[in-house]
Amino acid sequence: MKAVAIQAFGSPEGMKVIDLPAPVPAAGQVLIATEAIGVGGVDAVIRRGALAAHGFAEGHVPGGEVAGTVTAVGDGVGISWVGRRVWASTGVGGGYAEQAIAPVGEVLPLPPGLSAVDAVTLGGPGVVAHFALAHARFAPGESVLVRGAAGSIGITAVQLAARGGAAAVAVTTSSAERGDRLRTLGATHALDRSGNGDEDAPAGYDVVLDVVAGVGMPAFLGRLNPNGRMVVVGVVGGQPPADFGTTIMAAFRRSLSFATFSAGTVAGPARRAVRTEQFAAASRGELRTVVHEVLPLEHAVPAHRKMDAGEVFGRIVLTP
Ligand SMILES: NC(=O)c1ccc[n+]([C@@H]2O[C@H](COP(=O)([O-])OP(=O)(O)OC[C@H]3O[C@@H](n4cnc5c(N)ncnc54)[C@H](OP(=O)(O)O)[C@@H]3O)[C@@H](O)[C@H]2O)c1
Repeated sequence: MKAVAIQAFGSPEGMKVIDLPAPVPAAGQVLIATEAIGVGGVDAVIRRGALAAHGFAEGHVPGGEVAGTVTAVGDGVGISWVGRRVWASTGVGGGYAEQAIAPVGEVLPLPPGLSAVDAVTLGGPGVVAHFALAHARFAPGESVLVRGAAGSIGITAVQLAARGGAAAVAVTTSSAERGDRLRTLGATHALDRSGNGDEDAPAGYDVVLDVVAGVGMPAFLGRLNPNGRMVVVGVVGGQPPADFGTTIMAAFRRSLSFATFSAGTVAGPARRAVRTEQFAAASRGELRTVVHEVLPLEHAVPAHRKMDAGEVFGRIVLTP
């Protein structure tokens, strides 16, 4: 089968199309003929070699999210899965391929009306957005700021906060055009990356959902109302300053909360239930997916170049 592997860490050009034997599903796994492959920000982090210390070696096939048709099952998996169109999390890799393996617990049937492309745009990020808002104890009537809202996590978080009855949903983004697009998804205020640019925006927020982190993080902690909660779900802007803890302590008398959130800490059945609900909502048109571009699998290199250049609004999807 055709697959894309990271042959050399670094630039997108280090990825090559190669031929691999089709994988064989082990016990508890399914084999999927892929129709759509989500290109995630974490794929680029792995490609750059930033996670080499965590066991990612050259030769790795990236891709954590696919949709397609189950063609074979391993021991202990019901044969009725074969022939079903599904979404699946493949874990930390293996997705950029014509055939991919996934544990059956991470496989969900696609509802009628939801395309494979839409499924890999919503499947992973939607669950992160949902549980991160829950982790922040977001309640109707509260004001929310989504920092780094132009990616798939932010785009879903904006919609969920708006649908959940937020009093205001502010976003940070790098252009007015992106701000306008986020307004059509439920944002009420569009700010620049430093959190300025709209005089009518709330002075403080009850919840800050941060996909960016990096050196700008302390300033956004400062935007919280008393008893406000900041939840970091991504680090697309790098690590925060080493003295970030001092910033939290300096705001001691405002009773702020800071947390990280990883969807990996949510029990499988809870993730599955929310994903099922979100897929149904998307198939009814109540939750929107934003697909930046659909490209052939062989175009993984230009796909990553576009990500590195910051051109992507929503998600790029590859098709074999
Ligand atoms: N917590 C979890 O369970 C979980 C699960 C999966 C992935 N993740 C993490 O989530 C992140 C990817 O999420 P995503 O795909 O939604 O994000 P993304 O598309 O990679 O980035 C979101 C937006 O952040 C803005 N941005 C990028 N670099 C920036 C910088 N240096 N400073 C300020 N803004 C910047 C860009 O928008 P503008 O240009 O419009 O500003 C970009 O569109 C990764 O860090 C990944 O590891 C977390």
